[in-house]
Amino acid sequence: MGRLLFSLYKTGKINFLLTKEETFDNVSASDTNTSGTEGREYMNTEVIRERKSVRTYKDQEIPEQTLDKVRNYLQKDTGLFDVPIEFTILNAKNDNVSSPVIIGADTYIAGKYKRQKNDEVMPAVTPLGFAAEKRSIREGMMRKGLKSDSRLPFEQLFFQDDFQKPLNQAASGIWNLPLEMVRLAPSATNKQPWRAVAEKDRVHFYEKKTKGYAKESTGDIQKVDLGIALCHFEIAAEESRLKGRFIQTDPGIPTAEDTEYIATFELER
Ligand SMILES: Cc1cc2nc3c(=O)[nH]c(=O)nc-3n(C[C@H](O)[C@H](O)[C@H](O)COP(=O)(O)O)c2cc1C
Repeated sequence: MGRLLFSLYKTGKINFLLTKEETFDNVSASDTNTSGTEGREYMNTEVIRERKSVRTYKDQEIPEQTLDKVRNYLQKDTGLFDVPIEFTILNAKNDNVSSPVIIGADTYIAGKYKRQKNDEVMPAVTPLGFAAEKRSIREGMMRKGLKSDSRLPFEQLFFQDDFQKPLNQAASGIWNLPLEMVRLAPSATNKQPWRAVAEKDRVHFYEKKTKGYAKESTGDIQKVDLGIALCHFEIAAEESRLKGRFIQTDPGIPTAEDTEYIATFELER
């Protein structure tokens, strides 16, 4: 479980880094989020608030220099818990990558991690390019259908001490900004599977699984969502000057059957 989560977490990081416009000369990536150590200097909560998925791209080549920067970043990136993950830049034509909704992207980034010996899984592929001025009609319809511009309320996602007590945003204290950044994270079909239980100096994260999402061939895509969310949390915690780290120690809080413990953010003592 740990292996799965944290390799996917890295996938989240890369995607996010690429959405930050200045980072790679206005190149943006389809979905979303999160910075790595390197990306952190570009990444902040303002970017998280502004980010949107991009599916309609300009017919404009990505300069080789920019691609080099991306390649360098991908090479340097290491998993949070040392899970090997490999990133590859793909060409839509040569590598036969396509999507019914993505228009105009020739370049894609794929993140691949080893689930078991010789059993490689590629959980995420994201296009890379320059966002078009206008979304395609199909993309607009898709956003509407998924309600991509809205998110669940804070009190439905976050809890105090256990799952019985919803956490009121106004009463969430030091966790307000980090949790709000989790809330704004992107997720596959906007399902927002993250849940969190806050304590005084720890926040426990959980995945509320949507039926049918975890597939043998691709792994559990909602773990990517969780990875992105954790990364948003970490970035906002840093911005709030909260020093802490992620650990995996299940606190044993009773959960619903569809809800799985993922990780805990613990403040430095
Ligand atoms: C892990 C992950 C997988 C996604 N997969 C797809 C996809 O296959 N096709 C697509 O068009 N959008 C995909 N999305 C984008 C989501 O639909 C989008 O994040 C959500 O609707 C919220 O919209 P926003 O990102 O603009 O805030 C994915 C997002 C994530 C985080």
